[in-house]
Amino acid sequence: AAAEKGGYDTFMEKEISEQPHAVADTLLGRTNDAGELVLDELRIDEDELKSIDRITIVACGTAAYAGMVAKYAIEHWTRIPVEVALAHEFRYCDPIVDAKTLVVSISQSGETMDTLMAVKHARELGARTISICNTHGSTIPRESDAVLYTHAGPEIAVASTKAFLAQITACYVLGLYLAQLRGGTYAQDAKAVLSELHGVPAKIEALLGSMDRVREIARFMADTRSVLFLGRQVGFPIAMEGALKLKELAYIHAEGFAAGELKHGPIALIDAGQPVFIVVPGPDTPHGLHGKVVSNIQEIRARGARTLVIAQEGDEAVVPFADEVIRVPHTSPLLQPLLTVVPLQVFALELSTAKGLDVDQPRNLAKSVTVE
Ligand code: G6P
Repeated sequence: AAAEKGGYDTFMEKEISEQPHAVADTLLGRTNDAGELVLDELRIDEDELKSIDRITIVACGTAAYAGMVAKYAIEHWTRIPVEVALAHEFRYCDPIVDAKTLVVSISQSGETMDTLMAVKHARELGARTISICNTHGSTIPRESDAVLYTHAGPEIAVASTKAFLAQITACYVLGLYLAQLRGGTYAQDAKAVLSELHGVPAKIEALLGSMDRVREIARFMADTRSVLFLGRQVGFPIAMEGALKLKELAYIHAEGFAAGELKHGPIALIDAGQPVFIVVPGPDTPHGLHGKVVSNIQEIRARGARTLVIAQEGDEAVVPFADEVIRVPHTSPLLQPLLTVVPLQVFALELSTAKGLDVDQPRNLAKSVTVE
């Protein structure tokens, strides 16, 4: 078993360290020399894909947060409306789906029963179905019209890490491909994003090399009872994922919020010493979003919160209000999730280890939930 872990103490550590490859391998072989995406594997007719006027993403757990990231990106790049449904809620909300709807399922295992049932229901309603999946020969891809595999390699630890980054990457690939099919400026923009995306694995690698302070913070916090996570735009699902990782791995009460929602309720939770992670959008995010999140940090700090700020390199505006600044390399706003989630994974892993818990096999959880 030690050999299987490649020198790491746990599968989770190994899998976190493999994330640059999970992203790079999911991009690999999908672009031509002209820097365009080639997705012959999709086996859905180009004209049919061009006629898609709505996308619904179905998934559970971490995969659903990948779907939420995808919504922001795909809508921005293609102007096609995207909805994200928890797979177990999908069929019970009387979904509006027809032949022009693309239903995209996201599943690491390809065996999650809730997700499978959602895909089957979508097909009955006449939708086109694409599966984003990490496991060859699994059930969900077989039950879908087409599959876009993530190439994260086998994920053993129950809580998902590298598969999440690969899922986000595959969603970007799909969104950029649809933008390319639309042509014109959509296609030009997609090409630029794709070229930037190819540079992200090296940035994840660099980030993984700078996690000592995050581990130290986690060890200091082994007795913490509650941690909050704030994010906005694509940082919102990352806040949710950071909270989920902490629940799963360290059994600590954790909640993720959209930072703008703070003043509508959650700010009542803030008292002296309450730790709060804030995923800060890059200063170049449109509509002044960065400044708004910096104000949120200021507000909660004034109420005693201990602010653990995840911010882009060079973002000095956060410094006066941060108890800790965790730096991530620069990317354009919609690609930031591939970086900002990494310190949150490392934090949960280290805190779980500090508490002496079984990181790879948390209590009550299964890697793949094959019952409805
Ligand atoms: C389980 C796992 C989670 C995972 C979810 C969806 O609950 O514990 O880590 O995110 O299932 O799994 P899937 O295989 O469909 O991605």
